[in-house]
Amino acid sequence: MDNVIVITVDGPAGAGKSTVAKKLAKKLGLGFMDTGAMYRALTVKALRRKIKLDDEMSLVALAHETHIDLVDESGAALKVLLDGEDVSEAIRSSEVTNNTFYIARAPGVREVMVHWQREMGKRRSMVGDGRDLGTVVFPGAAHKFYLDADFKVRCQRRIDELKAKGQKVDEAALEKDLAERDRCDFTRKVGPLKKADDAILIDSTRMTIDEAVETMVKHIQGMA
Ligand code: DC
Repeated sequence: MDNVIVITVDGPAGAGKSTVAKKLAKKLGLGFMDTGAMYRALTVKALRRKIKLDDEMSLVALAHETHIDLVDESGAALKVLLDGEDVSEAIRSSEVTNNTFYIARAPGVREVMVHWQREMGKRRSMVGDGRDLGTVVFPGAAHKFYLDADFKVRCQRRIDELKAKGQKVDEAALEKDLAERDRCDFTRKVGPLKKADDAILIDSTRMTIDEAVETMVKHIQGMA
């Protein structure tokens, strides 16, 4: 397929990337690739196997014997399949959230993930969200966005999200976790979170999800 296009949405945790990217994909009739879900799925498997999360060789070997599928059916939430098993809920647990950075910082694991992501990007036009899509995975993407928001607002969004699911939230602990995830994302040696020079910065601090999506659509249509 020659005329597939990729649109990238990178940014820090809690900026609303996945929600915005999924809506944008739907609006444009494109596929959706949540790359964070892929790192999370591999984390589920590593935790189950009790692999030491600082043992890069074992993690890379694990990645090579793993199959992750993202099933993007219109109207439904993205389904994440780990070796055929639906782990869409398991990947959102706080244990997985707090351990994924070990997997994400291993250069050998990132190499495997980047390969998978590029293969997916060849098969179908899509919107992908992550940290390094505009810089490393798809440097030639048709459109690149960097979705940001103030730290406090990102924390509050996570708190609201968890409360909406009926979960009890330790707000101070959540702030600490998010700050730590930012630190890991920005300081990783390979594939750190970084705005690509040619990415359009969208600060969603005072925007709704729909406003962020509309802003992106305008840029894509050359109307912004
Ligand atoms: O976007 P998220 O919170 O689901 O991401 C989960 C983890 O994966 C987070 O620690 C950052 C990492 N990640 C990454 O390193 N590179 C990506 N392209 C996407 C996510």
